[in-house]
Amino acid sequence: MPATATRLQGFTESVIRGMSRLATRHNAINLAQGFPDFDPPEPLLAALERATRGPFHQYAVTWGAPAFRQALARKIQRFSGMAVDPDRDLVVTCGSTEAMMVALMTACNPGDRVVVFSPFYENYAADAILSGAEPIFVPLRPPHFSYDPAELEHAFAQKPKAIIVCNPSNPTGKVFTREELLHILALAERHDTFVVMDEPYEHIVFEPHRHVHAAALPGAAARTITCSSLSKTYSITGWRLGYVHAAPEVIAQARKVHDFLTVGAAAPLQEAAVAGLEMPDSYYAGLQAQYTAKRDVFLSYLRRTGLPFTEPQGAYYVQVDVRPLNRGSDVEVAEWMTREIGVAGVPGSSFFREPVDHLIRFHFAKKEETLHAAGERLLKLQGS
Ligand SMILES: Cc1ncc(COP(=O)(O)O)c(C=O)c1O
Repeated sequence: MPATATRLQGFTESVIRGMSRLATRHNAINLAQGFPDFDPPEPLLAALERATRGPFHQYAVTWGAPAFRQALARKIQRFSGMAVDPDRDLVVTCGSTEAMMVALMTACNPGDRVVVFSPFYENYAADAILSGAEPIFVPLRPPHFSYDPAELEHAFAQKPKAIIVCNPSNPTGKVFTREELLHILALAERHDTFVVMDEPYEHIVFEPHRHVHAAALPGAAARTITCSSLSKTYSITGWRLGYVHAAPEVIAQARKVHDFLTVGAAAPLQEAAVAGLEMPDSYYAGLQAQYTAKRDVFLSYLRRTGLPFTEPQGAYYVQVDVRPLNRGSDVEVAEWMTREIGVAGVPGSSFFREPVDHLIRFHFAKKEETLHAAGERLLKLQGS
């Protein structure tokens, strides 16, 4: 049999999706893979029903159905203040997952370097490698997950073609401040680097933190490529709708990558999702309140277990220090917890470049009753 491509040896299958399978096998509550166990908002469900009866069953325009792009442009403008041209500034993708692949294939030549903060959402290193680039890592050190400016400057001195910034960050829950983003942008300008933002959690930010749209900062528009998604904001991870937002010159190239990768996102779902993009501001305030309540429920159980953790500023993940359990590495603890405690998380080492193996990531995008059930199970860890 011929050998498969060597670039695939640079990364493994997704650990997150692997933990989901383990959770199913042991009937554990799945707090590993980040997706809700509750329905999307009613207007989206109603729009989906209508879309199935409409003329939307064939390919949409490859870079996005016009109605969807127009609604998306209005929505981005509403929250970021940026003027967005739906015909020149956007390409609609199959989730932020495809958006990131498109962004890196658009930005990078083979052999280019891409700066990735570690810990990182596991797709980033794989996407960099698939696009022919080499990821170089800058640590975000627990428990506060801030970066050392000197380490970032050292990474930029290696002349990277792009830096990926996840904001709010999965898995750390960090929300980058305006000052941090301005620092990153200044370095990017000095070294002529693209800033690739991944912002699927832009609407899940806890008080007093605020999401700052990097692309809207002074001088940022030309070099910022924003990847985002409807998955988390409207609880529709299965609809696979995301987008790249960037300068028209970048989008003209990104459209080609997208076209040859996937042709397009599902046409009926784009039509239906317009209802989400048109939701009033109160929807987003409600989403924030809903996730704040979920976070508070889950963290209150974690506190009672006595295990240390870092409070997330945004997104819906929390990393828990499992060293006090004395049960070995994060992988061993995660598997044991899934089997014996009935709650699945993700071993933190799958997010870190550095040898960090004492954290487990849980997500709390679940109904409060699910979080109570998981919390009760986790209380068995008290004093264990
Ligand atoms: C940081 C981050 N980026 C991208 C994605 C993928 O999102 P999508 O469903 O839009 O592909 C996820 C999903 O968990 C994520 O956490």
